[in-house]
Amino acid sequence: MKKTSIHIPVEIFPDVNSLVPEDAELLEAARQATEHAYAPYSRFRVGAAVRLGNGKIISGSNQENASFPAGICAERVTLSAASAVFPDVEVTSMALTYINESGSGNKPIGPCGICRQTLAEYEQRFGRSIRLILGGISGEIFVLSRATDLLPFAFGSEELKTH
Ligand code: THU
Repeated sequence: MKKTSIHIPVEIFPDVNSLVPEDAELLEAARQATEHAYAPYSRFRVGAAVRLGNGKIISGSNQENASFPAGICAERVTLSAASAVFPDVEVTSMALTYINESGSGNKPIGPCGICRQTLAEYEQRFGRSIRLILGGISGEIFVLSRATDLLPFAFGSEELKTH
């Protein structure tokens, strides 16, 4: 029997002003995107923004549905929107934020499991890591250098190959 462990490097910044300008700009875009959330059921407004290899920023927000499972998280709305418009351009980073029902959010949230799987697909598709900037509307900000650090032992296209 062997033992191993998984280490996830995370940088923690006290506020948006401590981030490098590119990350701060992306987080601000995500914060603005919360205003476009359609979240009448959860009242939990999530905003995401991605930076692409061509320098463009695309943002998105959660879009809910009376049939709850039909709702889509902000991360997947944003990745799909970016991919629909710029299918051949890699995603280099994503910022994620939220405002809860009380109008606050002072600690980071991580992407849900399905969104982690989707982020992993984009990393694999473009052969590069996606930097993650996770913050609320206030409080500390967590920065990870690659999204798949949040999905150890991920299932991917390699597993579908027969040989
Ligand atoms: N949500 C996201 O948009 N992203 C996540 O990573 C977590 C959850 C949304 C889905 C739903 O509209 C609301 O937050 C509450 O779960």
